[in-house]
Amino acid sequence: MKLGILGYGVVGSGLINMIDKDSKDRGIEIKGILVKDKRKHIDKKHYEKITEDIEDIFSEDIDTLVELIGDEENAYKYIKRALENGINVVTANKAVIADYGDELINIAREKGVSLRFEASVAGGVPVIKVLSEAMSGNQIKSINAILNGTTNFILSKMHDEKLEYKDALKKAQEVGFAEADPSADVFGYDAARKLAILSNIAFEKRVNWKDLYICGIDKVSALDIDSASELGCRIKLICHSEVENGKVSGYVRPAAVETGNPLSGIVNENNLVEICGDSVGKIALVGKGAGSFATGSAVYSDVTDIIENPGSNLSEISDEITNVYKNPEKKED
Ligand code: HSE
Repeated sequence: MKLGILGYGVVGSGLINMIDKDSKDRGIEIKGILVKDKRKHIDKKHYEKITEDIEDIFSEDIDTLVELIGDEENAYKYIKRALENGINVVTANKAVIADYGDELINIAREKGVSLRFEASVAGGVPVIKVLSEAMSGNQIKSINAILNGTTNFILSKMHDEKLEYKDALKKAQEVGFAEADPSADVFGYDAARKLAILSNIAFEKRVNWKDLYICGIDKVSALDIDSASELGCRIKLICHSEVENGKVSGYVRPAAVETGNPLSGIVNENNLVEICGDSVGKIALVGKGAGSFATGSAVYSDVTDIIENPGSNLSEISDEITNVYKNPEKKED
């Protein structure tokens, strides 16, 4: 498999490391790596394959494009171009999948290639594979999850080190979790995009992330944290979606979770996804929701999956756009 890789940051480095150290000969060859500024990558492996020009990537004879640049507009453009040209795509980009997933999967199907995005939700936790393959015989009833590592880190620091929100955010930025502009994480948009992607797959209905009820953690105060602790709870940014009579509802919001509930024990950048299926009941997946090797591992598994099952895609999502109640606790017709 000839790969073109877009991005050589945290996830790109993890992926390239895994490709280099894999002892199994899978025939993976890196043909080109796109970066913004080549000078910043002078000491990196495969330097000779690094380019600042996207045309160098497309002019190589690649059969899979791995998109890890983050920037939604360019990522969408390059992913669409690749699929239209019969090139498989693996991406970690939740914004692109949440906003354009339907359109892109349809192009992939028409062209007989694969679009895979395991790394777009919960980093190294293989939740999309579990929902789409291992639980395919179940009707999924609900999802309960912590899907954002940055906010979970901030809330953990507020509880464990008694930090105010702004100091915990600063700490998250210092250790490299939160971006310089942390809006998408702290306002809950990142988690809502991930919840919508999972809900699309789980309930086989189109769920637009903007239709979910979304409340971030930016208003959580040290007093809220103290009050929750006094009640034997921890505040968590909870993602929940459920289906009832064919209608999906969902929210992302801070909630006090009782100690003893598995969601309350998730610390730092970890994620948890609890899925309830009609046959299997509740199952839970826990693991690193971000980071170089964890997310690189999810990308790598998509690449090897395409080698083993060329042209395969997730099953079709209903064309019916579901009625989404913003908040399941406030249902109205
Ligand atoms: N900003 C994301 C998080 C990165 O904190 O979870 C992984 O998607």
